[in-house]
Amino acid sequence: MKLGVISDIHLDVNEQYPVVELLAKEAERRKLEGLLLAGDISNGPKSTLRHLEQMKKRLPVPFWFVPGNHDMWDQEQEYMDSWQIYEEYKKYEECLCGKSVQVGNSILLGNIGWYDYSFGDEAYSIEDFQKKSRNGRVWQDSIWVRWNRDDRQLAKAMCEELEEIIKEHKGKRTISVTHMIALPELKVPLERVNWDYFNAFLGSRELGEMYERNGVSCAVMGHVHYRKRILKNQVDYVCACLNYHTEWQTQDPGEELRKTMQEIEA
Ligand SMILES: [Fe+2]
Repeated sequence: MKLGVISDIHLDVNEQYPVVELLAKEAERRKLEGLLLAGDISNGPKSTLRHLEQMKKRLPVPFWFVPGNHDMWDQEQEYMDSWQIYEEYKKYEECLCGKSVQVGNSILLGNIGWYDYSFGDEAYSIEDFQKKSRNGRVWQDSIWVRWNRDDRQLAKAMCEELEEIIKEHKGKRTISVTHMIALPELKVPLERVNWDYFNAFLGSRELGEMYERNGVSCAVMGHVHYRKRILKNQVDYVCACLNYHTEWQTQDPGEELRKTMQEIEA
């Protein structure tokens, strides 16, 4: 079964472009049988929940998603905490968080994943990373996301939840979807100013180690706004971020989407 993979479609930032219609067209052109969205559908639950409803109506194929950190941003301060928002997403049958779904010959599973600072430069201390601010630049999750839990504990819990599900399906082909990255090779290049620090908020090394330990077939992710696909120790790591239109390499949204989307076999 052929699935399309994409993440970081940021439907609000990219609202002047018909991204969902283009996704639908691309799914038809490629004869996809499903789509995986690895988070950052838009900023905040109000917007993302509205877009999820629209996608259910407009996409010609079934889709599955996990939320990204942007989907968790409670800028209107309407939710008690991030867990309440996360639960809203989990109500969707398309949401992979904390569950597994048999699709084709594969088991799909996922959650948001989280960051544990392991991709940040070792020159910084845990206390430095906990500030989520460097040279006047603030990592926005520190303002808009409220898990009320230490990031490292949360990353560990997300990883453990995935491992438990993967173990239940030992011997089967598994495709795990997170928003956060699992591999240092996917970090933002250090030539970019301050990213020796901000890479800390991109994912968790432990996640990739867990995938390899358990023989996961494919690991889908997003978040970094780069596009890479790496086969490492038999795990197919797929990072296919559409990104903000201001980051696009072409003027044509359809072409950008075609260049971004990856295909996997389920
Ligand atoms: Fe993003």
